[in-house]
Amino acid sequence: MDQPPIPHEPRDDPFQHALANTSRIVLKRLLHFSQLPSTNSYLKGKAAVGEQEGLIILADTQTKGRGRLDRKWFSPAGGLYFSVLLRPMTLKLTESPLITLTSGVAVASVLQTALGLTPKLKWPNDVLLANKKVAGILVESAFIGQEIEYTVVGVGVNANTQLTEFPSDVKQTITTLQEMLHRTVDLPRLFGYLIGQLEFWYIRLRDQGFKAISKHYRRICATLGQHISVNLGDKTITGMAKDIGPDGSLILQTKTGREAISYGDVVSSIPAS
Ligand code: BTN
Repeated sequence: MDQPPIPHEPRDDPFQHALANTSRIVLKRLLHFSQLPSTNSYLKGKAAVGEQEGLIILADTQTKGRGRLDRKWFSPAGGLYFSVLLRPMTLKLTESPLITLTSGVAVASVLQTALGLTPKLKWPNDVLLANKKVAGILVESAFIGQEIEYTVVGVGVNANTQLTEFPSDVKQTITTLQEMLHRTVDLPRLFGYLIGQLEFWYIRLRDQGFKAISKHYRRICATLGQHISVNLGDKTITGMAKDIGPDGSLILQTKTGREAISYGDVVSSIPAS
């Protein structure tokens, strides 16, 4: 039988030290593993058996990292892969996509303020640098009736990863922080900043609603103002991306009128800024 994974000893762990240097109300506890199949899957298992809000699961590598729309998320050494557990009591089921957009704002704000980069978001929350994906966010929620039982926010950042570690089709579309900055980044510090900002923006959403976030999202959203196609799985819809709805949907002006898109994959290329 497989042994359960054993986390690092907190005392010797630079990631625990980085967390201790940030003041946090919600995201308080960290379990850090060398390797997991997927931090999201691991944390969902914990959430399902009653784990409290605030646990963070971090892994140096993942063997079955997952992305949006059932994609694989390659997770070689040098990247940051973690998930946080939220129990957003004040949000309704229909508001759960707002956690996705809010997490995108949090990750982008760290790349901007801590690293001096100019990130953009491709709706809903691919984090881009120079039009290439540097980070992805996978938000998974469970519901009881109309209430959110729990939400797991998983963040993957191509930080000091080598592009040679990725398959060639993926390599064309992604970048790393190391490639953009021409230096390696301090992963524990970056992790500390990310947890701080995820908490800051989550509390803002929880207490003030999406109105307190939407202008920040719009400002960095590269999809708005673009003529785009969105793959909805069974069909593709084309139009001009006009706005973000109060529920986080993408408002498209199509030939036949306005449509609010709540899920899907923006497949058109966004011109480099
Ligand atoms: C995407 O862009 O499609 C989302 C990628 C999310 C990847 C992160 S890595 C940590 C967490 N665990 C997973 O299995 N996925 C998320």
